[in-house]
Amino acid sequence: MQSQVFDSSTSLANDIASHISLQSHILVVDDEEINRLVIINLLSSKGYRISECTCGEEAMDFLKATYDTPDQVDLVLLDVMLPNITGYDVCTHLRKQKSSNQLPILFLTSKTQVDDLAKGYEVGGNDFLTKPVDKRELFARVDMQLELLKSHRQLHENLSQLKQMQSQLVHAEKMSGLSTLVAGMAHEINNPTNMTVAGTYNLDEQLHRLQQFINSLLEEDDSDISAAFQKRFNELFLALDTMREGSSRMQKLVEGFRLFSHLDEMDYQHCHLSSDVQACLDIVKATYCDQIDFVCTIDDDPEIQAHAAQLNQVFMNVMINACQGVLDKWRGKTDTEGKGKISIRLFQEGDFVIVQITDNGVGISDENAGKIFEPFFTTRAVGEGTGLGLAIAFGIVEEHKGSIDVCSQETQGTQVTIYLPLKDDTL
Ligand SMILES: Nc1ncnc2c1ncn2[C@@H]1O[C@H](COP(=O)(O)OP(=O)(O)OP(=O)(O)O)[C@@H](O)[C@H]1O
Ligand SMILES: [Mg+2]
Repeated sequence: MQSQVFDSSTSLANDIASHISLQSHILVVDDEEINRLVIINLLSSKGYRISECTCGEEAMDFLKATYDTPDQVDLVLLDVMLPNITGYDVCTHLRKQKSSNQLPILFLTSKTQVDDLAKGYEVGGNDFLTKPVDKRELFARVDMQLELLKSHRQLHENLSQLKQMQSQLVHAEKMSGLSTLVAGMAHEINNPTNMTVAGTYNLDEQLHRLQQFINSLLEEDDSDISAAFQKRFNELFLALDTMREGSSRMQKLVEGFRLFSHLDEMDYQHCHLSSDVQACLDIVKATYCDQIDFVCTIDDDPEIQAHAAQLNQVFMNVMINACQGVLDKWRGKTDTEGKGKISIRLFQEGDFVIVQITDNGVGISDENAGKIFEPFFTTRAVGEGTGLGLAIAFGIVEEHKGSIDVCSQETQGTQVTIYLPLKDDTL
């Protein structure tokens, strides 16, 4: 094996063997065996994990195979004069994948090559070491590069945490704003809806009474007039049915808004998800039902412990994504060409209750699939999407000790499966 994790047999290396996996991983690339051995012996005395390669091609393959794995290399000591491909060319190639902040490269040069230093920095090298290497200089330069790398990684982590916190704040704002708005709408619509329901009921009674009164006035031989009245009354009763249907839908929507906002429940409660899933669907349908066919199947509806208002946010985000994905594919198509369809299924599997949302929309490309849960990742036009929907959904489901699985095929559609544990004593 030409490149390997160095197995040092020195006593010092053995002493620190238990910590070695925590140590920085250094790759030494030099075609001269004696040079490699000297450097490896010196560095292994400090407990670094060391791998070695004898040429540029081998080094590039090794690095590529270990990028972003637990075996990733933290620092490369790269000889300038290598067979076939020079150290500078290797560096130019490596810089296409990793910046000098992510993968420091120390060039190993002979004394006669020091004039070439500018070229080394030009191709993205971090520093130089002249051969034969001086022990103290080697340690100092290696330590400095690894310290810088550590600081850079720390900065990167802090930045991700800040982004995460920012997204949580935006989410909290969005959630409370949306819940308050929806609860306010439910309250405002409730009164006129009840008035309409009561008015329809009264009108129905009055019409029946009027019908009886007119019938009582008619003589037996007034059958023509009676039939004409009956026809008119039938039309009026039909119109009333439509009004009743409309106001009952409004009542359902108000109930859905109330359920969605759960403003009075700020903590985990025992709940069944079917009514929440249905409430979210009703709200989404109100916007998209003309363009998309929705199917909702409730196979099981076990009790779980959940923060229902937050879960509603998850269902809404995923349903809206599905609608957008579907419209992106089917907008402007005729019914004969096909139609957008979204299926929602609630069922139980083992210790989990599962909400599955499947669409036949544009799907997600393999390239984007790995990024969709990242805060602020969006493929929508500026102003159309914040790229927070799935990041928020992920956070909420994780808090419920559940998980989200996304399975998608570009141009064919997407299936999002939300797993929520039936019981979790820690919640
Ligand atoms: N069902 C889906 N079909 C196609 N693409 C999807 C689907 N769900 C998610 N995506 C992709 O994932 C990206 C991220 O989704 P996410 O919900 O996090 O943000 P967004 O929808 O772009 O913006 P918003 O914050 O308004 O939700 C989307 O921009 C889209 O490219
Ligand atoms: Mg979204």
